Amino acid sequence: PQLEPATLFIFGASGDLTQRKIIPALYNLFLGGFLPQPFAIIGVSRTDFTEEAFHQHLRAGVDRFSLQEKHTGETWRQFTSLIRYIACDYDTPDMYEKLLSAMDQSWQTTANQVFYLATPPALFPEIINQLGASGSFRGNQQFRIVIEKPFGRDLASARELNAALLQVFEEDQIYRIDHYLGKETVQNILAFRFANAVWEPVWNRNFIDHVQITVAEQLGIGRRGGYYDTAGALRDMMQNHLMQLLCLVAMEPPTSFHPDEIRNKKVDVMNAIRPIPPDRVRFHAVRGQYGNGWIEDTPASGYRNEPGVRPDSNTETFAVLKLFIDNWRWQGVPFYLRTGKRLPARVSEISLQFRPVPHHPFAGPAADAIQPNRLAIQIEPEEGILLRTQAKVPGLGMNLKPVEMHYTYREVFDSLSPDAYETLLVDVLRGDPGLFMRADQVEAAWSVISPVLNFWENTPASQFPNYQAGQWGPFEAEKLIIDDGREWFLPACLEKNGKK
Ligand code: BG6
Repeated sequence: PQLEPATLFIFGASGDLTQRKIIPALYNLFLGGFLPQPFAIIGVSRTDFTEEAFHQHLRAGVDRFSLQEKHTGETWRQFTSLIRYIACDYDTPDMYEKLLSAMDQSWQTTANQVFYLATPPALFPEIINQLGASGSFRGNQQFRIVIEKPFGRDLASARELNAALLQVFEEDQIYRIDHYLGKETVQNILAFRFANAVWEPVWNRNFIDHVQITVAEQLGIGRRGGYYDTAGALRDMMQNHLMQLLCLVAMEPPTSFHPDEIRNKKVDVMNAIRPIPPDRVRFHAVRGQYGNGWIEDTPASGYRNEPGVRPDSNTETFAVLKLFIDNWRWQGVPFYLRTGKRLPARVSEISLQFRPVPHHPFAGPAADAIQPNRLAIQIEPEEGILLRTQAKVPGLGMNLKPVEMHYTYREVFDSLSPDAYETLLVDVLRGDPGLFMRADQVEAAWSVISPVLNFWENTPASQFPNYQAGQWGPFEAEKLIIDDGREWFLPACLEKNGKK
């Protein structure tokens, strides 16, 4: 369905996120004819760009980051005819007035107006306050605000930010981004679990031994040292992306797609996560920081040498958490979450390991070959689902081999998955907050990681760096899971490539 007319204000328009994610996504939507009509984009930032220079800056981003084929000059011209630029200090008292003056066509005042905060987080409160002081938005669905992560840096600051937002907007006008929720393969978890009858009966502690969630990155922190060094893996990835993946795997079946129904079910999961007492943190959490090493035969320098990072930084670039969910479905089933920078590969995958068969009639090598069933939900870069089962090896005797039932998006679907930002932007324009974080979700996620955050902050790591760039984190990460009689899986796509 055609979207209602809208104006999108992007704060932080000269920044990295606008160039890398937001504009390429809008451009792809434009090419597909998915944008509202009429539509206008107004870039706002403190930089003194001419409109021409701003368009060129955006084009550099689209050239690099758009998924689509190269564009022709004419299409790009049509796209940029939607885009204005306005230089503005975020503490300008009559900021909204100033924005209105950039809305040069009469339809814009009656259209939906979306304020997208893509600035560094330190500026969020100021922008929210100035918007609130100069306009009246609360309760009027014509106005929406999108807010990027990081949403606070701990529970207290997240609460403050929520309070500031809720002074100016109502909850259903607020779109807190966790871009993982916009990924096709992440949305597919709901389809896989709840549009198939076979999984639900086995999706519990009676059949599942444990769950592993790995979000591994090969990249270091690039030019984001200034931000990352104040954040670390727990804040940057665990509190949001991995926690949301855990919720999607662990949540109870929703009764509808009402945005609050799904979000309620996810909050229930987080509220049931067993708190980690300070004296147990070392049994439930591991941190790491990469030193010099090798990524695919190329030398990679250690975290402490990255630009913007303190030379004695104690920030973790790798984290593992072992969590339990105290409810009927999951009692006693460990969820191992692992994420890090400068790991051997870029791969996100969720694996559910089933319990071994209770009894089997096989003997000798056949018995030894049996491996527990494992279901791997491949989030990226490979997109698909894989189930490991046992098969009889053709031949005269009874020999067994684990084999895989596997589908990949490449083979099954003809079209490329849209980028997460395309999906999320359309949802904002449509007025559907279901894939966005509600205030209580963000706060619940901070509550889960707070004990670890506090413990780590008060106990500097004794040995950093403790893994080489290009390794799967420090030895303690292996030890944590081996002590439970388990091991980290090599993500399925790497197993196939024979890559260790
Ligand atoms: C961001 C983090 O939220 O997610 C980055 O701040 C990280 O540090 C990125 O690199 C990973 O996203 P994706 O979509 O590339 O898996």
